[in-house]
Amino acid sequence: MEAAPQFGARQLSGFKDFCQFAHGTRVIAGRDLLSSAGFEFAKEGAHRVFVVTDQVIRATGLVDKVEAGLMDGGLEVVGIFDEVPQDSSTEVCDRCAEQARAAGADAFLAVGGGSVIDTTKVADSVFTHGGSARESEGFYLMPRADDGMGAPLPIAPLAAIPTTAGTGSEVSMGAVVKDHENKVKLEIADFPLFPRLAILDPESTATLPAAIAAATGMDALTHAVEGYVSLDANPYQDGRSLVALRMIRDNLERAVEDTSDEEARGNMLIAASLAITIGLGSTHSMSHPCGARFGVPHGVANAINLPHVIRFNAGGGADIADRYRDLNEVLGLESGGSDSAVGDRLATHVEGMIERMGLPTRLSQVGVPEEGIPALADGAMGDGLTLLNPREPTEEDYVELFRRAL
Ligand SMILES: [Fe+2]
Repeated sequence: MEAAPQFGARQLSGFKDFCQFAHGTRVIAGRDLLSSAGFEFAKEGAHRVFVVTDQVIRATGLVDKVEAGLMDGGLEVVGIFDEVPQDSSTEVCDRCAEQARAAGADAFLAVGGGSVIDTTKVADSVFTHGGSARESEGFYLMPRADDGMGAPLPIAPLAAIPTTAGTGSEVSMGAVVKDHENKVKLEIADFPLFPRLAILDPESTATLPAAIAAATGMDALTHAVEGYVSLDANPYQDGRSLVALRMIRDNLERAVEDTSDEEARGNMLIAASLAITIGLGSTHSMSHPCGARFGVPHGVANAINLPHVIRFNAGGGADIADRYRDLNEVLGLESGGSDSAVGDRLATHVEGMIERMGLPTRLSQVGVPEEGIPALADGAMGDGLTLLNPREPTEEDYVELFRRAL
């Protein structure tokens, strides 16, 4: 077999007609940062902080430490909202905003995983601009100066302390929350939703169970892989995706095997915040309806769906397969051979990781019935990220992908 051209010889995403890269969050990462939460958040204009979390996190004592850190820096904690469920909803966001208003807050601090951080973003937007969470849906539709075309209006200062290493929401301008009535996940993205501050401290993930570390870590891996092959890929994101993937390669399984490994957990927090992008693809399009309709946790759904989407995409042309060749090299896999062989190798590697970490490997194991496939395929087709997948799927393609994942 002829030697495959190595990474340095292949085409990068490079200059094109248009690309955008935005990063609006100040990140601090390191040890013992919780005690300086107040000192750091005060720099962002916070005075009267409303803390948003969930009951599991609160029971670990982490919120007490953060609260002490806020007060140490001279900030006031005016309320703690700990009612965010695993799969948060528009109703929860509205309730959170209302309570923050009643408490006289002027800033929000999210302490939790993706659901908590996304809820806080949307709640902050409703708190600042009024209206309801359901009305916030859409990309770049937040209130702007001069009725539309002006700069987006800022929201109250928002900081995030992630307690999982996966979602990346702490440094992104996106949020996903469930609309229970219509059984869909609403996607909201706009510049003001970048938290002003993200505090990455492995102490925040110290009590995370191995299974959740595995699932959320697979979300980060999915972001790195999907972000790199997405139609939205660009050199700015490429750099982040490749470094994130390498860090995930070296730290995810280590952090899951030994949850007391602080260095691995710290590296995973950084990797997750590097991997995040709103330029994703069909894995996420498939996983959103799995969560909305059948309550499948986001990371678990991505872990199951990703290998099938990789195989589908890699068969879509040499340009797409070349992107996967790059990823294979980062992971130490063979990058030569046919397009489908390259995809198959990466997909098989991902399946091996999922199995080693003890995650479910099929949607049928996590409550998805065969009869659910048509609605899931319909949901995936309607998901905005389908437009960014490198190979355009039809509804029949999605039906087939869901069948394979079932
Ligand atoms: Fe995700």
